[in-house]
Amino acid sequence: MLSTERQSTLLQKEDLVQFKGIDYVEFYVGNARQAAHFYRTAFGFTPIAYAGLETGVRDRCSFLLEQGDIRLVVTSSLTPDSAIARHVELHGDGVYDIALQVDDVQTVFQAAVKRGARPILEPTIVGTQNEYIAKATVASYEGDIVHSFIERGNYAGFTPQYQHLPTLPNPAATGLMEIDHMVFNVELGKMDLWSNFYQTVMGFGQAQQFTSDDISTKYSALMSKVLQNSTKRIKFPINEPAEGYRKSQIQEYLDFYNGPGVQHMALRTDNIIKTVQQLKSNGVEFLQIPDTYYKNLLHRVSPLDEEIEVLRNLKILVDRDDEGYLLQIFTKPLAGRPTFFIEIIQRKGAQGFGNGNFKALFEAIELEQEKRGNL
Ligand code: FE2
Repeated sequence: MLSTERQSTLLQKEDLVQFKGIDYVEFYVGNARQAAHFYRTAFGFTPIAYAGLETGVRDRCSFLLEQGDIRLVVTSSLTPDSAIARHVELHGDGVYDIALQVDDVQTVFQAAVKRGARPILEPTIVGTQNEYIAKATVASYEGDIVHSFIERGNYAGFTPQYQHLPTLPNPAATGLMEIDHMVFNVELGKMDLWSNFYQTVMGFGQAQQFTSDDISTKYSALMSKVLQNSTKRIKFPINEPAEGYRKSQIQEYLDFYNGPGVQHMALRTDNIIKTVQQLKSNGVEFLQIPDTYYKNLLHRVSPLDEEIEVLRNLKILVDRDDEGYLLQIFTKPLAGRPTFFIEIIQRKGAQGFGNGNFKALFEAIELEQEKRGNL
């Protein structure tokens, strides 16, 4: 019997070979056409391909959007009694699939199932011997989140069910480059079980851990663990609510999402000031940060390349660790429910997630929670 530590090292070695990064993130939404329009005009994504009735798909309609190395798919149901429709009824618009790119779908799928993953789709190959795409899907630990494994064997398009879309007038570039991390919110007492799933089944390692002493305000507290694959291309921080004086923002998410799910997706830029200026002019709404946050900022994080006045005007947050600093900002929830939102992040050396900002950020979120009557 191997020790847990030894097992974890072995799994990470396997994982090192297997996971290349996030291939795409698929959202189940109420209206895919309008969601595609939103991600194009607000966030600067380009709609690339479409699947639906016109391409022989009878039960759903999907749009593939791209920007930099980020691929998003928005999918809605064409029938009232499908898994997609149920997902949207229960959760509102939300993330369904975080698809991971691999070299060999068969091996990864078999290994994941052997280690306890629940299979959703057996390995399926389409195309020719030289140009194919292989896909398999397993469920995440709980909730309605899955991971597809995608092997791209020189296949030119996204998948055969998709047709290329004619080029629309270009949205203004927002400079978003890649997915930096995806954050899960899970119920009280469940963080370790989720963390074990990603370590045991997916061979991820645990990078960081925050307790409720690190992250708490007068009303809210949370615990967090960061799971990542061995190349550090895939990072999943997992949040669990801690008992607070009133309802924590993690609990508010869980109540309105009706279970665990993806809280936010962080997108990386190499010029956050330009990116945020463009997003704001596109109508994207960000969380308001109290001006007091900027009073002690220089003292806490200096020296910075950016002017503090510019950061204050745009409400961009800064955090520093041993390796450098990072700049980040958070949108308001993208749907009517206080659930999924997007983070914009620029890294200047720092590899953390802005935990020095959590307190300031949570106080800002609580101002919004108060307005919603959920505090
Ligand atoms: Fe984040």
